Amino acid sequence: MGTKTKAALGLMAAGGAALGGVAIHDLTQKKRAVLRNFPVIGHARYLLEGIRPMIQQYFIERDWDGRPFNKTTRQVIEDRSEGTKSEESFGTLRDVGRPGYEWLVHSMAPLEPPELEPRVMVGGPECTQPYSISLMNVSAMSFGALSANAIQALNEGAAAGGFAHDTGEGGLSDHHRHGGDLIWEIGTGYFGARTADGHFDPEKFRAKAADPQVKMVSLKLSQGAKPGLGGVLPGAKVTAEIARIRDVPEGQNCISPAQHSVFDTPRELIEFIRDMRVLAGGKPTGFKLCVTSKRDVLAICKAMLEVGSAPDFIIIDGSEGGTGAAPSEFEDHVGMPLTQGLMLFHNALVGAGLRDRIKLGASGKVAEGNDIVKRLIQGADFTNSARAMMMALGCIQSLKCSTDTCPAGVATQDPRRQKALDVPSKAQRVTRYHRATVDQALRLIASMGVRSAADLTPEMLRRNIEVDSNASYAELYRWLKPGELLTEPPEGWERDWRKASPDHFGFKGALH
Ligand SMILES: Cc1cc2nc3c(=O)[nH]c(=O)nc-3n(C[C@H](O)[C@H](O)[C@H](O)COP(=O)(O)O)c2cc1C
Ligand code: SF4
Repeated sequence: MGTKTKAALGLMAAGGAALGGVAIHDLTQKKRAVLRNFPVIGHARYLLEGIRPMIQQYFIERDWDGRPFNKTTRQVIEDRSEGTKSEESFGTLRDVGRPGYEWLVHSMAPLEPPELEPRVMVGGPECTQPYSISLMNVSAMSFGALSANAIQALNEGAAAGGFAHDTGEGGLSDHHRHGGDLIWEIGTGYFGARTADGHFDPEKFRAKAADPQVKMVSLKLSQGAKPGLGGVLPGAKVTAEIARIRDVPEGQNCISPAQHSVFDTPRELIEFIRDMRVLAGGKPTGFKLCVTSKRDVLAICKAMLEVGSAPDFIIIDGSEGGTGAAPSEFEDHVGMPLTQGLMLFHNALVGAGLRDRIKLGASGKVAEGNDIVKRLIQGADFTNSARAMMMALGCIQSLKCSTDTCPAGVATQDPRRQKALDVPSKAQRVTRYHRATVDQALRLIASMGVRSAADLTPEMLRRNIEVDSNASYAELYRWLKPGELLTEPPEGWERDWRKASPDHFGFKGALH
């Protein structure tokens, strides 16, 4: 027998032994019945299951049906981040006749877009340090959910592009300190401003909020992807750095309760926001939420009227919003979608005579210029974007954010993986993407024949009802007149307005 034959036989024997070992393991393990019934070949099922998202994305998904962001949108973000292409060839791939399709109304007398981005001044009468915010900003994402390099690139990108970067509830880290304007967010864990037993610490908050890089402060009430849900960062992930930033003990489970300890009622919420603004030296102070119900929104408005104080801004997050990790029950079945939540809050504030002193932000799949314009028409003053900004950082929508194996180094704490994210080039991508998207929004607004976002009206956004009919948002929705709730609440609002109380959230009583 030649040496080659001997080697081949040796290899076969080793392979056979290995397969035998796998077969014995499969037959004796108790976790997976499929492997007990189909030893060895049963592994193919799990392998294919593992690569299914890749096959789906690369070979099956069509340009317009990928989720949460379709291929066309992802490509637009990629092109704008790279600065390579701003236009498409040949025409739309969308079915523009389908019911539900929405479109903007252009003008017979379009204008030229302004050369400079118009800014939005945030800060009501109680604010002493108003902030001029961009039409599009980086939505809240914590260090911990995102890698250090990702946070740094976002902040450098924001600094170069002149827009705001929300810290997320995970605290204000060194990675945020690269010159970009910050919105410092605190959630139920009050990370970075908490006492040893997890309550809000006013003095720690005052000291950090005084940082000139912090332009606004925000209290997170809820998030569209997981409204009403607290969270736990397992002790193993609470590194010395995270412990220092969050003000929690290293190596121990870090808990974000579902409920805030600083308020129980709408009145207490508004009083806390008022006090928070004082602690923040008069900087714009507001809150972020995914809308629960009309009753709760009206209860908050009543609380503002009774307390005689109002937040400087409110950010409405849609239930279509993203997260690093959440149970599918919450992602898929809880909370109000952005269109409804935004129009509801906007109209409630108008009806309660409060809209003039509060700016509304909107987040939920804002990725292209038309998304900005649509949200402005529906009642927002500015928008925030999280996942599109992640894509500007290089995210490929592999949907593995909660596994610490992010292939793009964006949503991971693995030092090797996050090192692959090159901060200077990704920061440039973030700046370019923001610039190009806002530019397109301004071009759209000009094409609609108006000079500024403030001149946009609900008549300018239309939705197909049937293939041969459409209606504008002015017709589709009841838009309240300023102060209308205070004088004569209209049908559809009257009952909730009457029942809403500044002293409790939710529905009380058998018939509510
Ligand atoms: C990875 C990740 C982390 C997030 N962390 C926070 C957070 O700490 N605080 C918060 O208010 N929202 C958080 N969000 C929600 C976003 O700020 C945003 O409201 C939501 O994703 C909708 O925007 P998008 O559709 O542009 O992603 C997070 C979202 C993602 C994707
Ligand atoms: S590449 Fe995948 S894991 Fe990384 S941020 Fe994007 S979706 Fe999350």
